[in-house]
Amino acid sequence: MMNLKCKNGIVSWQSPSNIAFVKYWGKRDRQYPMNPSLSMTLNNSHTTMEVEFSILDKAQDTIIQNFQLEGIEKPKFQQRLEKFLQSITDVAPFVANLNLNIKSSNSFPHSAGIASSASALSALALCLASIEQAMIGAEEIDWQKASLLARLGSGSACRSVYGNYVLWGKDDELESVDDYAVTFNAHEKFDDLQDAILIVDSEPKKVSSSIGHGKMNNNPFADARFQQAKDHYRQLAKAMRSGDWDTFGEILELEALTLHAMMMSSSPSFVLLKPNSLSIIEKIREFRESTKIPVYFTIDAGPNIHMIYPGKDKTQISVLLENLKTLCENDRIIHDCIGKGPVLLKKEVNG
Ligand code: DP6
Repeated sequence: MMNLKCKNGIVSWQSPSNIAFVKYWGKRDRQYPMNPSLSMTLNNSHTTMEVEFSILDKAQDTIIQNFQLEGIEKPKFQQRLEKFLQSITDVAPFVANLNLNIKSSNSFPHSAGIASSASALSALALCLASIEQAMIGAEEIDWQKASLLARLGSGSACRSVYGNYVLWGKDDELESVDDYAVTFNAHEKFDDLQDAILIVDSEPKKVSSSIGHGKMNNNPFADARFQQAKDHYRQLAKAMRSGDWDTFGEILELEALTLHAMMMSSSPSFVLLKPNSLSIIEKIREFRESTKIPVYFTIDAGPNIHMIYPGKDKTQISVLLENLKTLCENDRIIHDCIGKGPVLLKKEVNG
């Protein structure tokens, strides 16, 4: 390799998970989404990844020497990451010359229904972007490239590279693209959104996201769904810019329920919602009706309910949460909120 500015070092990033308000469900080619999506970056749910690297003169296949999650070797996840690294050498050729030892840990419990692939793959992509930055002696990391590499690892991970609200997927009006995510500015009413994650069931899900995306290929409602998501994307962005709670909430809940409707109408069909998921949805709607507090739900590909509400209503919402707790597995609720995005924790490089 020519003119390298470093030989080895350690980089570490803390990178968050995110929750989609307009859902990415259905993909093509190299992890390109069938419709644009809009997400909120979380604050407390994150992965911390430390990557020790050395740069080899010759390209090689085995890139990861050792991978540990919470101090324990995880050969299966190591294999997945290695496959990912081998698959990106066309867009990031330097990766073929890396030798890596990776230590990863999550701030949230395993199988709590929080997507660890978004935080883990974005953390890894950011570490790679920092390594490339050190190799070429650049001033800044290439954020677009970090988001693009994260996307190739897991679609939703590309949105975790930035804080607050994030757009991903081609749309001419909002000027977002398929290759990587970009940031989005909302009205100040959305400055301190809270996300109470109601854990209905922490069992690992029976159908992975990747398989779920694939099932959209022969879902009879797919085209209508992609069009609906494109419309929701613009409508939600408009509502969030103008501070329109009613439109925001209506789209948020419709997106969650349509995602699950797609699962239920895939062939073979699958149902991830549990009876308690539905009870919680009912109670959130009843509470909203009677108090007029803008509290809404969204749901990922699982049974757990993300309850979204403004920080200023925390006191009154705590009454509702107390009531909903009994519908959760072991009374479990994870409190999260909008976050500022990834943080570089360490960068030590030797020339
Ligand atoms: C329901 O990003 O996990 O959370 O690209 O196959 O890794 P892959 O899928 P993934 O899908 C996320 C699906 C979702 C909606 C969303 O986050 O937009």
